[in-house]
Amino acid sequence: MLTVARLSGAQMRERLEDLARLRITVFRDWPYLYEGTMEHEREYLPRYPDAKTGTLIVARDGDTIVGASTALGLDEESDYVRKPFEAAGMELSRIFYFGESVLLPQYRGQGVGVRFFEEREKAARDHGYSQTAFCGVVRPDDHPARPHDYEPLDAFWGNRGYQRRGDLVATFTWQDIGDTAKTEKPMIYWMKSL
Ligand SMILES: CC(C)(COP(=O)(O)OP(=O)(O)OC[C@H]1O[C@@H](n2cnc3c(N)ncnc32)[C@H](O)[C@@H]1OP(=O)(O)O)[C@@H](O)C(=O)NCCC(=O)NCCS
Repeated sequence: MLTVARLSGAQMRERLEDLARLRITVFRDWPYLYEGTMEHEREYLPRYPDAKTGTLIVARDGDTIVGASTALGLDEESDYVRKPFEAAGMELSRIFYFGESVLLPQYRGQGVGVRFFEEREKAARDHGYSQTAFCGVVRPDDHPARPHDYEPLDAFWGNRGYQRRGDLVATFTWQDIGDTAKTEKPMIYWMKSL
């Protein structure tokens, strides 16, 4: 039986190891191909509980956390995430930014991803934000690691009311599986007015 709950503050901080484990496991796969380490995750993830608007949604199977999703105000985000919005002259204090959604494959297709959006949009409204945004990596269609049966999430995101914003592109940097150094990736934003 899957349950979904929204956490913040100390409760959220207690679950960061679960979030790290899920990120490393799920983002190994296409299209992220993320070579994550617990060391890096432990440095990176406290940003969420440290933020005033930091939000963590967890999906549990019994007591085990099998999925997680994050969000915080864009005005509390890092420079490289904010940059395209600032360049476009947009008001950051109106935009709630969604970080990752990671759910173990065997739990997909049961509505948890939809709940992650609903819960984060509710958090955005509760914190007084009127727009939401997230981004997804763009990889070449002919990338050798792309599985033949891969279904992009674009339709899923469109069904949640999000518009792809080709004019808002950030650059994120991480090490791909099999590489020896970090490389830059284009990340395209999707947005919705609440
Ligand atoms: C993104 C992700 C969390 C989505 O999770 P999910 O739980 O499979 O998504 P859902 O089941 O909620 O939604 C998938 C579809 O199933 C439908 N669905 C909803 N409830 C359902 C149910 N009870 N049973 C079956 N299908 C259902 C949804 O409506 C949706 O279809 P739609 O877009 O046509 O409306 C998951 O695919 C994932 O972890 N992907 C890898 C990581 C990633 O790429 N994350 C995104 C970028 S950070």
